[in-house]
Amino acid sequence: MAIERTLSIIKPDATARNITGRIITKLEDAGLRIIAQKRVRWRTSEAQKFYEVHKERPFYDDLVAFMTSGPIVLQVLEGEDAVARNREVMGATNPADAAPGTIRAEFAESIERNSVHGSDSPENAAKEIALCFSDDEIVG
Ligand code: CMP
Repeated sequence: MAIERTLSIIKPDATARNITGRIITKLEDAGLRIIAQKRVRWRTSEAQKFYEVHKERPFYDDLVAFMTSGPIVLQVLEGEDAVARNREVMGATNPADAAPGTIRAEFAESIERNSVHGSDSPENAAKEIALCFSDDEIVG
């Protein structure tokens, strides 16, 4: 299996509850290595750009407001099959559908306040990583 990179975000609902460490433990236990990480607060324009693909969706404005409501932790994760592995440990977008033991089953509050984001394909991972990190911030 190929070594991949994926973009992960620990969202404002999780930073507010001080559970970033518990989420990171789940990522690391799943075999993912954090090779870049920073805690930031997005401006509206940054959240709008990141979620541009959802611009026409009814939840877009609420999503942007939520993602700028508090600090977030941006991460680059590396490992075998990292995109799929991260999506597996995150669980389904809606916590009501997330498998037991996944991050969203344990920690998410709702489909919007769902604690984490993860890239959905290697192609999008490359785009999202480039949007959030400069090359010299990534130390593999
Ligand atoms: P994320 O993986 O960050 O990608 C887009 C986000 O939109 C998603 O997680 C959810 O937090 C949020 N969202 C809010 N409402 C919906 C919805 N009805 N369907 C999908 N995503 C939603």
